[in-house]
Amino acid sequence: MQHSRQARTYDALSRWYSLLSDSSEGPLRRECLDRLRLQPGEAVLEIGSGPGTDLPAMEARVGGAGVVWGLDLSRGMLRVCQRKLLKDRRGSSIRLVQGDGLKLPFRHSLFDVVVLSFTLELFGENEIHQVLREAARLLRGKGRLGIVSLSNHYPGELATRAYWQAHRALPGIIDCRPIDAPGIVAGSGYDLFEEVERPMWGLRVAILVARKS
Ligand SMILES: C[S@@+](CC[C@H](N)C(=O)[O-])C[C@H]1O[C@@H](n2cnc3c(N)ncnc32)[C@H](O)[C@@H]1O
Repeated sequence: MQHSRQARTYDALSRWYSLLSDSSEGPLRRECLDRLRLQPGEAVLEIGSGPGTDLPAMEARVGGAGVVWGLDLSRGMLRVCQRKLLKDRRGSSIRLVQGDGLKLPFRHSLFDVVVLSFTLELFGENEIHQVLREAARLLRGKGRLGIVSLSNHYPGELATRAYWQAHRALPGIIDCRPIDAPGIVAGSGYDLFEEVERPMWGLRVAILVARKS
């Protein structure tokens, strides 16, 4: 992944991202959140939190004794998120940080839960295991990992083929690429314990919950 280009793309998208994505992606992200069963007092990190739409829902679940961190490469996304939290008067347990999923700016064993939604599939073949290793480094004990990502399990389907063509033609804009998230997560030191696929615009989206092995 070319990180500076990626950050610029998401800076440019930041004001519109929620408007463009929440109606289709929101229910899938919330299903992942439900499946993660966050508990009061837990510490949660979302890598690639974007406009941070789900951070208040995470905060409501972990309560005042817990903490929710949103990390993103794009300063524009973080600004949008910060503004929204201030406007809604939410976020006393929410912290935002600019950073790269490949080198997370935290010491090890700080979090109970790490979430990536529509973000894991932005990383290149060689980077994707590194992001998951970084997440594992931050998870304490048998911490949980929640993933929502485009699935490559149905390469022959019309929408998937059309999406791949669009991705190849405009990789800087249509940047998520369908991946085998269950295989990648299982091969990166996690035990999968929930795995479902849901339709979205004719594509398939995997929702996974795993524990650090
Ligand atoms: C497709 S958006 C998803 C946003 C959010 N997770 C959601 O589901 O609404 C991907 C996000 O990942 C961020 N991102 C891209 N590369 C990143 C990296 N290397 N480290 C951290 N965040 C990154 C982008 O800036 C963007 O906000």
